[in-house]
Amino acid sequence: MTSDRFTDEDFLFLKEKIFQLAGITLTEKKKDLVKSRVQSFLRKSEIGSVDELKQELQNSNPAVIQKFVNLMTTNKTDFFRESKHFDYLIYELIPQWKKEKKTEIKIWCSASSTGEEPYTIAMVLLKHLPKNTSFKILATDIDTQVLRKAQNGVYPISKSSEIPEQYQPFLSKGKKNVEGWFKVADEIHSKISFKQHNLIENTYPGDELFEVIFCRNVLIYFERKTINTLMEKLHLSLKPHGHLFIGHSESISGTQHLFATIQPAVFRKASV
Ligand SMILES: C[S@@+](CC[C@H](N)C(=O)[O-])C[C@H]1O[C@@H](n2cnc3c(N)ncnc32)[C@H](O)[C@@H]1O
Repeated sequence: MTSDRFTDEDFLFLKEKIFQLAGITLTEKKKDLVKSRVQSFLRKSEIGSVDELKQELQNSNPAVIQKFVNLMTTNKTDFFRESKHFDYLIYELIPQWKKEKKTEIKIWCSASSTGEEPYTIAMVLLKHLPKNTSFKILATDIDTQVLRKAQNGVYPISKSSEIPEQYQPFLSKGKKNVEGWFKVADEIHSKISFKQHNLIENTYPGDELFEVIFCRNVLIYFERKTINTLMEKLHLSLKPHGHLFIGHSESISGTQHLFATIQPAVFRKASV
C-alpha cells in the first residue's frame, strides 16, 4: 500500500530535481499539486513510496526520470490558442513570403504539448500559403507522453469547437465505435515531425534553421537566467529576419539585443 506521507523535504528534493532536468521552477504554492501528482503516480506505479521514487531519481534511472518529467510538466493547450499569432501569420508573414517568392517554409513548435498548436499552424499554412510553397513543421516537447498523443492526432469531439468553421474540413469525425472523437486529416498530419527535445539543453533538434519559432506558454515555468540562455539558442535557430512567438503573458526582456519587438509576443531576429 502507498503511504500518504509527503514532507517539506520531499517537496524540496523533487523541486530541485525538476529544475535540474527541465528548468521548471516550482514555488511553495505548488506543493499540494506536486503531492497529489506524485501520490496518484505512486498508486499506479511499481514504485511503492516517495522515498523509493527519490532513490530511483538519485540513481539516475532513465525510465523513472522520464516518467517523473512527464508527471511534473503542465500541458494545457488548445487549438487556435492566442489566435493573434495565427492572424499575424495570415496577414503579415504569408504575404511577405509571397513577395519574397519563398518556396519552402520551416517552422519549429518548441513546446508542442499534445499537438493542438502544431496542427493549428499546419491548418493555417495549408489553407493560406500559395500552393507552390511547401512547408514543414517540427514539433518538440520534453514530455514523451504528450508527444505520443500529439503523434496520434486524435481528440475528443468537444475540442473541435476550438477550430473555426473554415478549418473544419481538415477534421475527420469518428462514427460508430469511434464516435465522440475526431482525427486530424493526413494532409495536415504529414506536414509535422514529432521529436523529443529539452529546451534547456545545449543541443539543437536538428541542423535546420526556421522562418518562425513558436515558444509559447513554457517560458512562464523558467527563471530569467534560463530564458536568457534559451533565447540565444532560439536566435541561432532562426533564419535571418525569422520570427519568434512567445505567450502573451511571457517576457524576454533580458535579451532585447537579440530580437526586435514587432508587437506584443511577436519578435524578429536581429542580426548581432
Ligand atoms: C502549458 S504547455 C504549452 C503548450 C503550447 N505551447 C501552448 O501554448 O498551448 C507547456 C509545455 O512545455 C513543455 N515543457 C516544459 N519544460 C520543457 C523543456 N525544458 N523543454 C521542452 N518542453 C518543455 C511541457 O511538457 C508542456 O507540454
